[in-house]
Amino acid sequence: MNVLWIYAHPDQASLNSALRDEGLAALAEAGHPYRVSDLYGMGWKPTLDRDDFTGDHDDPAGIGQASGHAYERGALSEDITAEQEKLDWADAVVFQFPLWWYAPPAILKGWIDRVFVKGYAYGVTDPDHPGRTLRYGEGVLSGKRVLVLTSIGGPEAAFGPRGINGQLDQVLFPLLHGTFWYTGMSVLPPVAVYSANRLDDQSFRTAADAVCRHVAAIGETRPIPYRSQNGGDYDEELVLRPELSPGGSGLAVHASALAHEEAQGEPQDQPATASADSAFAVSNVDVSMTNRKSTSPATTRS
Ligand SMILES: Cc1cc2nc3c(=O)[nH]c(=O)nc-3n(C[C@H](O)[C@H](O)[C@H](O)COP(=O)(O)O)c2cc1C
Repeated sequence: MNVLWIYAHPDQASLNSALRDEGLAALAEAGHPYRVSDLYGMGWKPTLDRDDFTGDHDDPAGIGQASGHAYERGALSEDITAEQEKLDWADAVVFQFPLWWYAPPAILKGWIDRVFVKGYAYGVTDPDHPGRTLRYGEGVLSGKRVLVLTSIGGPEAAFGPRGINGQLDQVLFPLLHGTFWYTGMSVLPPVAVYSANRLDDQSFRTAADAVCRHVAAIGETRPIPYRSQNGGDYDEELVLRPELSPGGSGLAVHASALAHEEAQGEPQDQPATASADSAFAVSNVDVSMTNRKSTSPATTRS
């Protein structure tokens, strides 16, 4: 499985860089070819604007339409087309970043803003049903898997079901559901390293092993069972039908209740997190971590 690794951290000597090195080694060991986009290292331009295309800067359409027109006429800037070519090559994408203010660093948001151009990543209609836009489970990027790997300052419990920060899959909902699922990608449960500023060597090793397990299994992990827009679960106003998740509201209703019930019978199918404090708590697949070799020094954070 070809893997594109999008890396968004400014420091080469950081927890994230050590985890990236571990993860890439695990991909190689598992036989997955990979390519890396190191956004800070590349000097990635993070802002979407009309310098993103040549020619018709005066296109009267809004910026989203105008960049879509530029995509159609092959006028997007080289840095964008290079990333789109990598994405075309990839069967799976890893997005790795530290959580900053409940979100990825701006440079990563800017990668998505500029690379996920209209007509390339979204805004495409179903050729068999003109007028029906392909999104939320269908779309140009469907078939690709996506894994978010993030480090987080707060402790795991504070991102749990009653944690003050909100549950991690809901904190990341704009990215997981609003961006990746929207464009049709299969979204794997995110992997988080909590208490990331306070890892001792042993905690780092536990977290790194968990990261390695997940990236090596990127082709097998069961995606989050988000509901598809055009699968019949939503009415014509895109509101969840009342007989589904009856009485429920909020972000959680957009994942299939049936799948959740199935998952409850099989704890290993719950969304996965890698804890810095404890051994890998929940896993989607049974991948042994006993023979994982360390490939980068443990990083002690204070
Ligand atoms: C600008 C900024 C914003 C942050 N926002 C959050 C946050 O919203 N929640 C949280 O738990 N930690 C937050 N943190 C802590 C980082 O997630 C943590 O320092 C990082 O994951 C550690 O990884 P690193 O050593 O590779 O940078 C923030 C850190 C910075 C610098």
